[in-house]
Amino acid sequence: MKLNAYTASALLALSLACFSGTAAARNCSADISSDDAMKYDKSVIVVDRACKEFTVNLSHSGKLSRDVMGHNWVLSKAEDVQGVAMDGMQAGLASSYLKPGDARVIAFTRIIGGGEKTSVTFALDKLDPATVYTFFCSFPGHWSVMRGTFSLK
Ligand code: CO
Repeated sequence: MKLNAYTASALLALSLACFSGTAAARNCSADISSDDAMKYDKSVIVVDRACKEFTVNLSHSGKLSRDVMGHNWVLSKAEDVQGVAMDGMQAGLASSYLKPGDARVIAFTRIIGGGEKTSVTFALDKLDPATVYTFFCSFPGHWSVMRGTFSLK
């Protein structure tokens, strides 16, 4: 089948409209806040799988310092959370309570204290859309309560 010029240009216009519409609607970042009560303000993050990269902006609305009530945002598989947190505790605050080079960590931010902000941008191409990942804070004792799910849709 041969497309005539009209059909071809109409198809091109349609595909351009779809592309720009998708790009405009796509949200490839999330803001998440944490506090002095050892909580995040979100327990679920769902990402548009069309995003190539995703950015997490973490803030700490409390007043306590990072050595007392520090928070970060760490992404891993659910079954790796405990191991990452345990090894991270050994690594200490200077390493953001993460073992340097830990291959189980998909993305992470540094530890922040009250009034601070940080962010991380990471590629999504290694993530499996069929897997529900876990985000958590690796500050000692926080990972069991400061956690949520991260998935692609
Ligand atoms: Co924390």
